[in-house]
Amino acid sequence: MKKQLTIGLFGFGCVGTGLYEVLNKTALLQAKIKHIVIKDATKKRSIDAAYFSNDADRILNDEEINVVVELISDSEAAYTIVKRALSSGKHVVSANKKLIAHHLEELVSLAKANNVSFLYEASVGGSIPIIRNLEEYYNNDSLSTINGIVNGTTNYILTKTGEGLSFDTALSTAQELGFAEADPTSDVDGFDAKYKLVLLLKHAFGYTANQADVWNYGIRQLKTWDATYAREKSLKIKLLAFGTRINDQIIGFVAPHFIPATHFAYNVENEFNAVVVEALFSDRQLFLGKGAGSYPTASAVLSDISALQFDYAYEYRKTNEEEQLHLTTDFKLKVYVSATSKEALETVPFAETLEVYHGATHHFIIGWIAFKDVLQKDWNNESDLFLAVLPDGVKLNTEEAILATNQEVVFA
Ligand code: HSE
Repeated sequence: MKKQLTIGLFGFGCVGTGLYEVLNKTALLQAKIKHIVIKDATKKRSIDAAYFSNDADRILNDEEINVVVELISDSEAAYTIVKRALSSGKHVVSANKKLIAHHLEELVSLAKANNVSFLYEASVGGSIPIIRNLEEYYNNDSLSTINGIVNGTTNYILTKTGEGLSFDTALSTAQELGFAEADPTSDVDGFDAKYKLVLLLKHAFGYTANQADVWNYGIRQLKTWDATYAREKSLKIKLLAFGTRINDQIIGFVAPHFIPATHFAYNVENEFNAVVVEALFSDRQLFLGKGAGSYPTASAVLSDISALQFDYAYEYRKTNEEEQLHLTTDFKLKVYVSATSKEALETVPFAETLEVYHGATHHFIIGWIAFKDVLQKDWNNESDLFLAVLPDGVKLNTEEAILATNQEVVFA
């Protein structure tokens, strides 16, 4: 039977306002927003001022409110709110990937102990229903790989810089459109994508990664000659979150990749996200949709709220305490690294060099590098270096076979 849902909403930014509008346009849902808590209670809002206060207790102590929707950017404040809400027996819907990637186990236990649901579809892939599909649909099919574009801001920047816009202009537009995080470093340095990958690893493989152990490298150091190299080779640069399972080992990282035209992500542009799931029986499947923005993200929040009407909760059935799953660093990457200074480039410890280029403006090396050696550098802050993984550029140290990252999805 459908339950009446009374919502307390935290945050009325891009996604919060989108949710308000989307709820008003959804006749089938028995849900109403009772109160909205925001940081600045004096700010002029587009809806009745009576909805708003900056007093969290107005939601958390209200017994009629049975659902807390948390859509604020401050993950520390969100942590306190979500814990209190779950502890007081309220269901929680959140889009806060940073919060969840940092505190997943604790929040899941808290929800379980209080017999409530904690749902977060909007935290990964915006409008793409990837979490619920991994959780429900693939429950009996053994998953091997999950790979994709999961950050709309960087995909938007890469698309627009490819069309000739400057990085800073593309980023400001992404901010104006409501795609970027309050601190866009999280987008451009790959943290946001890493948090999403942590959630994907949990729902794909049942593995809880410590977010600090997952390498994330973004696109801040990308230079014009890297984009030119890609164009000349008919490749594109995309920021991919890659996760694969080989027996009890998991490879998971976020980094820019050069991808060819046959790659599933090649034509995924602007704020669109795309995730490929590989499983034993269903083979390769592609999920595609808008990964950021007001309505697309609100649509995923709406879907979680709607699922609460039927008491839906994630069951984490893939989590198996007996398994010894662990993140491995025992693999190598085939990468392109460029720099203006030859000396800076020479500090990169390639295990095998395949190609070297020295030019007037910059230099680059293509070769295989042990992942352990990649981790020796803080790449996001190496201003003269840019690294990108090449097609099919992941290989376990112990085996010769290349792990296919160049995943074609041809619909011909
Ligand atoms: N900043 C995020 C992105 C928002 O650009 O993908 C959606 O999670």
